Amino acid sequence: MKNIAILASGDGSNAEAIAKYFCNSDSVKVAAVLSNKENAGVHSRMKALEIPTFTFPRNEWNSPDEILDLLNRLDIDLIVLAGFLCMIQPSIIEAYAGRIINIHPSLLPKYGGTGMWGHHVHEAVIAAQETESGITIHHVTNEVDGGEIIFQASCKVIEGDTPSILAQRVHELEYTHYPKVIEQLLLN
Ligand code: GAR
Repeated sequence: MKNIAILASGDGSNAEAIAKYFCNSDSVKVAAVLSNKENAGVHSRMKALEIPTFTFPRNEWNSPDEILDLLNRLDIDLIVLAGFLCMIQPSIIEAYAGRIINIHPSLLPKYGGTGMWGHHVHEAVIAAQETESGITIHHVTNEVDGGEIIFQASCKVIEGDTPSILAQRVHELEYTHYPKVIEQLLLN
């Protein structure tokens, strides 16, 4: 069995899509969700799916010995960021080299980097009158949104789109592709 830990700070709709995709799998298990926010929506979504969640405040993410202990205890094979908004410290990146991935709601390298997350990305894409946006799944390194790209998929930006309409279209791409990319990374 390959074990995943999902890291999430917000609503957790990607975490839910991933957890549902693997809920009957004999080979991949969502072992836990780790968060930095006690009241994030991801906790109730995971409760309904009987997946344990753990909250560590920001200072613990900055000095992550306890987090590394937990990941070790859970025998984690892959760390999956899904709307996680804390920096991943070099000690975690080193311990899980090549085994931490993130999803970003744009076609990187466009609209990435510090401050570019969630609705900020969609607002910027619309303001720039792009006709295309999409998702990027990439390895996590010490450079924000700078790791090697594993997968991209695109969608149209339609005239009149608001950031929340575009976010919905991008989310659909995320739910379709993120679980499959995770499966391929773990099982190939
Ligand atoms: C997702 O769209 C994800 O791509 C984005 O946050 C959203 C989380 O939604 N991540 C980033 O912007 C990271 N830079 P969710 O909590 O419903 O899964």
